[in-house]
Amino acid sequence: MAIDQKPIFPAHVSGSALQAFVTGLPKAELHIHIEGSLEPEMMFDLATRNAVSLPYATVQELKNAYVFDNLQSFLDIYHAGTKVLKTEQDFYDMTLAYLQKAHEDRVLHAEIFFDTQTHTQHGVAAQTVISGLWRACETAKRQWGLTSGLILCFLRHLSEDDAFACLEQVMPWRDKIVGVGLASSEMGHPPAKFARVFAQCRRLGFRLVAHAGEEGPPAYIWSAINDLHVERIDHGVRAIEDRLLVERLVQDKTALTVCPLSNVKLRVFNTLADHNLKSLLSLGLTVTINSDDPAYFGGYIGHNMRATLTALGLGAQDAYVLSKNAFESSFVESDRKRQLLDCLDSYCESFQH
Ligand code: HPA
Ligand code: ZN
Repeated sequence: MAIDQKPIFPAHVSGSALQAFVTGLPKAELHIHIEGSLEPEMMFDLATRNAVSLPYATVQELKNAYVFDNLQSFLDIYHAGTKVLKTEQDFYDMTLAYLQKAHEDRVLHAEIFFDTQTHTQHGVAAQTVISGLWRACETAKRQWGLTSGLILCFLRHLSEDDAFACLEQVMPWRDKIVGVGLASSEMGHPPAKFARVFAQCRRLGFRLVAHAGEEGPPAYIWSAINDLHVERIDHGVRAIEDRLLVERLVQDKTALTVCPLSNVKLRVFNTLADHNLKSLLSLGLTVTINSDDPAYFGGYIGHNMRATLTALGLGAQDAYVLSKNAFESSFVESDRKRQLLDCLDSYCESFQH
């Protein structure tokens, strides 16, 4: 198919046919915190392996604790869970388990958030984290042809000095990190706090993203654009409150990595049917769908897509646009990007016959 020519979809791919279409749809995931893919069962296994005690007696008791009022109430539990991760093998096992699920969801390319600050606070070296993640990514490429990139997130509740120290620590593994991002507690920690760190990362050639406008106001999204010069906004759903901001994001084709099930679990929206993703799409924003912390929020990317399309009455054309946006906004090198987009178009053509 010629570049920019859109596949024509049968008028009524709906119900189970739509579900099947989305299940087989080639996907890119651009917003996944690897520590948020740690399933309760694996958390218990690793706790036993590393003789770490968990404040929950059973997997079910842990799962029962996964009820959140906001981002912070989630982060408290999420950070507690990361204490079971000690060795390179632990990071490898967690990452490969995610990549296996991503492969089953037909993810062809994943850009994975990780942080080292959480782990160095627990006495785990940055090298242990990066080596485990990198080795799993290599395995996934060999086994399934699934490509990936690693994005280091600075923790915004910590200081600028801490972020600089973190950057210095990871520099020996610079070649294994495609970009940097900004995660953790949003409110009270505007992107501008990290302007100098991001400027340094930019000089070093890292690709740049930041969480903004999940709970924080549109001003935080402006700050991510103007102070950090990010290429994508993670979440960004509150952009809709500012018409000029929407215009700017549309004009620059800045992708929003939206995570619908996360937004419901963290009470950004009451239900999926209340989510503003359909409005964001209709405003011409470059929307993508992602899983954020799938072990905590009730589903991986495929489930996020199917549930959101159903709840909002969206169809196959929308699913195609969402996937295309993700491939186009990925940080993958250009030959692979072309290959991924071709794969998407071939799938859509074959689905029509
Ligand atoms: N938002 C911000 N920081 C995070 C998240 C999130 O959803 N998950 C892990 N770190
Ligand atoms: Zn996130």
